[in-house]
Amino acid sequence: MAEVTIDLRGMPLAEAYEELEVQTRAVLEGIDDDIAAMATMSSLVHQAFGHLWTGFYRVVEPGSLLRVGPYQGTLGCLEIQFGRGVCGTAAQMRETQIVDDVMTFPGHITCDARSRSEIVVPVFGRDDDLIAVLDIDSERVGTFSTEDKAGLEKLVEWFRRAA
Ligand code: SME
Repeated sequence: MAEVTIDLRGMPLAEAYEELEVQTRAVLEGIDDDIAAMATMSSLVHQAFGHLWTGFYRVVEPGSLLRVGPYQGTLGCLEIQFGRGVCGTAAQMRETQIVDDVMTFPGHITCDARSRSEIVVPVFGRDDDLIAVLDIDSERVGTFSTEDKAGLEKLVEWFRRAA
């Protein structure tokens, strides 16, 4: 397999996400497996941007409970209730959450004390059902923008098995 875990820092964000999209689709060609896709995306996104933590929390009890899935980084919390922390809020609202400063987010769950900002993107399956959230944490305040939101929401469209 070609070298695909490319560091994309320094590239304009929109281009970086396009590149990630191409890499992801290429690596997952012919694969129909959510966990394999979560592992692949965690690795590619983590290597591309060098964030603190990049990974998925899976819906194990719809409307109620998330459990950690494939990720890259230091040890993550194992379970998060819907409505709790940034992940649980994104899951409950089914909407991307961008938190510029985690200190100002009520109920933020601290897995790694170095985390300062984060983005959490809901992941939908084939039937528009929420299957997971993609959580990315950064050591810097204000890391994530609407460009990250757009790029990551497009990336996780894979789980709908969109063409
Ligand atoms: N920061 C998250 C918890 C998960 S970890 O940071 C890996 C949150 O508040 O939802």
